[in-house]
Parts: sequence; C-alpha cells; structure tokens
Amino acid sequence: MATTLEDRPRTAPPPGGAVSGGHDQDNGTPGAVDLRRLYRDTGIGEVLQQLDDELIGLAPVKERISEIAAYLIVDKARRAQGLRSGSPSLHMCFTGNPGTGKTTVAQRMADILHRLGYIRHNHLVSVTRDDLVGQYIGHTAPKTREVLKKAMGGVLFIDEAYYLYRPENERDYGQESIEILLQIMENQRDDLVVILAGYKSRMDTFFQSNPGMSSRIAHHIDFPDYSAEELLRIAQLMVTQIDYRLDAEAQTAMREYVERRMSQAHFANARSIRNALDRARLRQAARLFRTAMSAREGDSGKDELMTIAAADIRASRVFGNEPRPQKIAAALPEAAISDR
Ligand SMILES: Nc1ncnc2c1ncn2[C@@H]1O[C@H](COP(=O)(O)OP(=O)(O)OP(=O)(O)O)[C@@H](O)[C@H]1O
Ligand SMILES: [Mg+2]
Repeated sequence: MATTLEDRPRTAPPPGGAVSGGHDQDNGTPGAVDLRRLYRDTGIGEVLQQLDDELIGLAPVKERISEIAAYLIVDKARRAQGLRSGSPSLHMCFTGNPGTGKTTVAQRMADILHRLGYIRHNHLVSVTRDDLVGQYIGHTAPKTREVLKKAMGGVLFIDEAYYLYRPENERDYGQESIEILLQIMENQRDDLVVILAGYKSRMDTFFQSNPGMSSRIAHHIDFPDYSAEELLRIAQLMVTQIDYRLDAEAQTAMREYVERRMSQAHFANARSIRNALDRARLRQAARLFRTAMSAREGDSGKDELMTIAAADIRASRVFGNEPRPQKIAAALPEAAISDR
C-alpha cells in the first residue's frame, strides 16, 4: 500500500486559538496548547456530561469513551504543535447483550468524533448483513459500496457483524463484503469510522476467523448487562423524558416486573424496559378511555394523563396474565351516542 500513516492529512484543522501565540495574552506558556480550552471549544465536555446524565450505569463504557476523547484531544494538541501523529485508528467494536445501549452510545460517539473533527458529518449509518450482502452473484459489491458511500464522512455501524461471515456456506457472499470493508477501513480510515456490534462470544469467534478485521479494530468496548436497580432507574428516566410518571404503586409493580422479566426468555435489558413502558402507556390510555366513557364527563386532568398506575403494569403477561384485547371500540358506541 502506498500511503503511510504520516502522509494522511486530517480533514479538519485544529480549532483556532487553542495554541497560545508569542504574547502571553491568555497567561499560558507561549506556544503551549491549552488542553482545557480545546476541551471547552470542542464542546466535548457537554457530550460526555449528557452521556453521563442520560445513560444510567455503564460506568466502564463511559470511562472508555472519556479515555478515547482525551486521547483525541491530545492528538489534536500534538498536531497543533506540529508533532507527527499517525491517523489514530478509530474503528471500534461494541460487544454486549441486546438492549445494553450499544446503538445509543455509538450515536454519541459519532457526536464526539464530529466535534473533534475526526469525521465530517455527525451521522451514523446503521446496517446489518442484509444491507451489505446480496442474494446473487454480482450483487454484493454494489450493495456494500452503496452503504459505504452513504456512511462516508461519518460512522458506519454494523449490527451483529458476525452474520457477515458464514463459514458453513462455502460460497457465501458475506466474505466479499468483508473484503471491501477491510480495504476501506484501512485506506479511508480518516474519513470513515466503522463500529461493529454484537454478542461478545460470537464477535470473538468472528475475529478469530477474520484476523484482518480484528487487527483493524483499535477499541473494544464491552457493555455489561444492567442490574435490576439500574433497569428500574432506566424506567424512571424513560418515563420522565416523555412526561409520564409512575405512581408509588406502579413503582413497586415495576420493580416486580423487572425482577420477573429478567429471568424470562428474550430479555433485552433496557429495550425490554422501553417495550414494557410502551405497553403500559397503551393500557393507561385504554383505562382512561374506559373511565371517561362510563362517566358523565369525559375530562381527564393533566395528572391523570401523566400517571401510569400499577394496574397498567400488572396486566402484563410477565405477571402470568393472558394478553387481553382492549375493547375500546366496543365501549365507544353507547357512550359516544349518549354524548351527542
Ligand atoms: N444506560 C441506559 N440508560 C437509559 N436508557 C438506555 C440505556 N441503555 C439503553 N437505553 C435505552 O434502551 C433502548 C435500547 O438501547 P440500544 O438500542 O442502544 O441498545 P443496543 O445495545 O443497541 O440493543 P440491540 O442489541 O437490541 O440493538 C434505547 O431506547 C435506549 O435509549
Ligand atoms: Mg442496537
């Protein structure tokens, strides 16, 4: 390959002003780079703070993200000082069970990389095997290139990346896609960051069979499962973000829900919590409707519209209840007619 690490220029210039000039106007050492200022000017602190505020738990993940951010800020400072720096390798792998926050953190990572000028666009293109690999001969290369074109200048997030590799299939087109990805990950790594995601054990097997891919991934970040306590806090955060609240009994019900759900099949961490809350909102709406239709007045106060009650959670299948069709429509005619 013709290019070396040193001769690949970064697209974004260092933010102006972070290097002190000859005079001592910011009381810094002449010619020194103010890392704090660089940190402030790029707005990285805000993104990290937001990551901390809006994502419960994930302490090891947050720490790794901060480390990467610090490394990139220092890299910028070194460039500003004219020090030689190879393009930092930014391809990553996020491993963890479903619903542990991989996609969400990847989006924040794109934001960080963009603010620091390591990608041109603050965008993340999320794909799976089906977006990259064709069904017939000759279809895979154009499909993969189309995705790469879309993602270029930003982050390409490949979910369940191990499905690209199907060793049991002798002539699997996935391999073709992997070859193209490897080439771009090496040659255009200053214009595209690839994040692979999936279950840890499957990802490990994938890397064993694809050492080329493994060697191009600089950062491996493992997403732990959430504890029951964290899931409960996630539930609280999710409801407040959309102007709902769990009343005291609903909080107790939610705690029980979490404990039961965690030991059941297809448990998907925070995603299961989001889904449970979506269903609780449906039941709350049906409940409000039923109450309104059977009363003389159909008013619902702001408080009622906001409150999820224990019954909205306990009606779940997780508590052994059969899913019950919400007969709102059946309740409507008499009430609606008597209203007119
Ligand atoms: N730590 C957290 N705090 C608050 N919300 C979270 C947290 N982790 C995940 N979520 C929320 O849970 C949902 C699932 O998260 P996300 O899609 O990022 O997980 P994932 O690991 O990519 O899952 P999958 O493997 O199923 O794709 C999202 O709505 C996200 O906002
Ligand atoms: Mg995801």
